[in-house]
Amino acid sequence: MKIFQLFVLSIIFLAAHSASYAIQDIKIVQPVIGTQGMVSSQDAIATKVGVNILKQGGNAVDAAVAVGFALAVTYPQAGNLGGGGFMMVYLADKKKTIALDYREMAPANADRDMFLDKDGNVDDRKARFSHLSSGVPGSVAGMIHALKNYGTMSLEQVIAPALDLADNGFVVSTHLHKSLKRASRRLSEIESSNKAFYNGNGTVPKEGSKFVQKDLAWTLLQISKKGRDAFYKGSIAKKITEDSQKHGGIITMEDLANYKVIEREPIFGSYRGYTIASMPPPSSGGIHLVQMLNILEGWDLNKYGLHSAKTINMIAESMKRAYSDRSLHLGDPDFYDVPVKTLISKQYANDLHKQISAKNYTPSTEIRPGVLPIYESPQTTHYSVMDKYGNAVSNTYTINASFGNGRVAEGTGFLMNNEMDDFSSKPGAPNMFGLIGGEANAIEAGKRPLSSMTPTLVIKEGEIFMSTGSPGGSRIITAVLQTIINVIDHKMNIAAATAAPRFHHQWHPDSLLMESGFDMDVINQLRNIGYSVDAPELHGNEYTPAWGDIGMVQSIVRENGKLHGTADDRRQSSLALGY
Ligand code: GLY
Repeated sequence: MKIFQLFVLSIIFLAAHSASYAIQDIKIVQPVIGTQGMVSSQDAIATKVGVNILKQGGNAVDAAVAVGFALAVTYPQAGNLGGGGFMMVYLADKKKTIALDYREMAPANADRDMFLDKDGNVDDRKARFSHLSSGVPGSVAGMIHALKNYGTMSLEQVIAPALDLADNGFVVSTHLHKSLKRASRRLSEIESSNKAFYNGNGTVPKEGSKFVQKDLAWTLLQISKKGRDAFYKGSIAKKITEDSQKHGGIITMEDLANYKVIEREPIFGSYRGYTIASMPPPSSGGIHLVQMLNILEGWDLNKYGLHSAKTINMIAESMKRAYSDRSLHLGDPDFYDVPVKTLISKQYANDLHKQISAKNYTPSTEIRPGVLPIYESPQTTHYSVMDKYGNAVSNTYTINASFGNGRVAEGTGFLMNNEMDDFSSKPGAPNMFGLIGGEANAIEAGKRPLSSMTPTLVIKEGEIFMSTGSPGGSRIITAVLQTIINVIDHKMNIAAATAAPRFHHQWHPDSLLMESGFDMDVINQLRNIGYSVDAPELHGNEYTPAWGDIGMVQSIVRENGKLHGTADDRRQSSLALGY
């Protein structure tokens, strides 16, 4: 069925029963409806690629893999071949949930002090924008693993649309034009990236023009014909390692050949009768999503009202406690003993729940341990897919910063990640997003950096109910949390649940970020009990916060035989499409 966003209407919502209920502008939006299949991604072309695969008889995994390759062409800010990510798959016939870890891996020659200068301080440029900033990419292996094990189509079939888009070009959207323009200074000074994105002479592709990527088409053709080995052992591997070594990087042919996709035990939780299935470490997403839901389950959030000061306080207090734990306990489980069971247990959540009072704010300094300052890049991308068989995929992947480290591996047409910056280069020193960690997330050869990506599936009575996820660094977890609460507690349709303004607290700094749209009364009530609030409403009409949005959630809900999809319109390029 063709997409139809029926109407967007702002209404005044008056909740009159309590002082903590407030007048709010609530966006009423309709989801896209389908019965056979649905894709929601951050790029309209990639969404259409996925839907076409479903229409050709492919399952959700076939479509997800096709979308993953297509985004690498049409959404180079975050879609990628040179990065990594996590995929959750629900298999309806087996009633089984799979968690695929295709996160980047530190090269064998990486060491914990590799980003420290002679004075022992972190050299930020080295950690973020040099060839050393790249981990061994996992995306291609991840996509191929998913397809081989859970898909039904051939690699050639699912890569074909991406290959066509790279080889014959696609029309540049406003969003892509603006993103390339913003990144032009950083990228165009690197010869290979200038060639790939700026015609070799710094020219930003115009909105509406055709954008062709011949080197990327070559790369996709090699993968299509020769499979995983082309990337990890063959001609593409040679180009990645030559480029890395020419510019001071450390990725070797051996590192690429040794890359492994890992199937991990998903994080399972329960929330008001729904099963939550999400990504385990090396992502922190699943653990802290379940931890926060466990804490919140003890309150009737619906009764307290959507976006009342009371509800926001209880959710923010839960966020602070989860992010406090994140700083100390989370890292790659193959290198560090993450206390998963305790963190997601109802008992532990109950202890935390008791610390929270509905009326009182706890200063972050009174919550231990660690420090987690703010700022997160939105440049990761998430998509959700469901098919007519009841299968679902929730996939989040990234090259970390927007356009990764900005460096196209010469001759390949694709950008490399700067995921090494997601490690703690030095205990207590913030990474690019202000995140501070400790021993659990120190750099070690072969280790995977800690992530916040939270691809999530919600299961109800043994059937898939919801697929959701988001980009946005540490704000991913809180964006997904609020989307789930809006649907389950507040009974909102998925479009309204997504459009509703979000807030975020990550313990340190002790600051509550609130997107535009919260009621001024509520903001003032929160400030009165002690919160330091940063909300556009406090700065006047023209103010756009430097921290941007809180997530970009792409979700699908399956109910009564219908698929309800929505694409977060915080970013104009997104599209949900069903049939
Ligand atoms: N690079 C962002 C994340 O993995 O959370």
